[in-house]
Amino acid sequence: MEGSMKKIVAGNWKMNKTLGDAVSFAANFKKEKTKHEVIIFPPFPYLEQLSRLLPVVPLGAQNCHEEESGAFTGEVSALMLRSIGCTWVLLGHSERREYQKESNAQINQKIKVALKNNLHVMLCVGETEKEHKEGLTNEIIKRQLKEGLAGITSDHMPSIAIAYEPIWAIGTGNTATPKQAQEVHSFIRETISKLYGESVAKSLRILYGGSVTPQNASALFKEKDINGALVGGASLDAEKFVKIANS
Ligand code: PGA
Repeated sequence: MEGSMKKIVAGNWKMNKTLGDAVSFAANFKKEKTKHEVIIFPPFPYLEQLSRLLPVVPLGAQNCHEEESGAFTGEVSALMLRSIGCTWVLLGHSERREYQKESNAQINQKIKVALKNNLHVMLCVGETEKEHKEGLTNEIIKRQLKEGLAGITSDHMPSIAIAYEPIWAIGTGNTATPKQAQEVHSFIRETISKLYGESVAKSLRILYGGSVTPQNASALFKEKDINGALVGGASLDAEKFVKIANS
């Protein structure tokens, strides 16, 4: 099953691009056909316009709040995202874990509210360079999965994808080797299998993220448990992103 699953190539624009840049990206991207499924995670302000410019591309937000509404100045809720036609949300990205101090428990609350509002969730997990060097990768990933998915039942698992993003590989040009990534992806599948059973684990899509480029994507995609990529820097350029989505 893992090998035959359609791959997902997701673009995480982070805090980049003006509206004009987003519109040009859409114009360039629109002309292209891609082999893999594509999802784009633009900044909040461009979601609605992009949904009109790229109606067939699923769009996701890069975060949502853990409550549906209320006195939370500056926040955006899953309910709002759903109401503008957004279908995905990226949760637990390492930059949010680091800069906004998001905990596994908070990410878990966000996942629950996202699922309640019928959003698909891409949950990011990954270890720091120090944890990697100390051989703690599996331990960290297991905790992020267990605590992040606490109370999520197996009937919700088809709406969840996991992105393994080793922090030492994000934006550094230091991609994990296909072998390194495959080992962790296989561990993630095994952990999900223990939590939810084999059939949920087999159909779970596990994406790799961290300095994915048109040059290294094919080798990564050959690995059995790598079901696509979450792409930061290289997703900002429509041409590069399309190359990855055709790798
Ligand atoms: P990168 O970012 O491709 O620029 O390394 C990946 C991510 O943070 O999602």
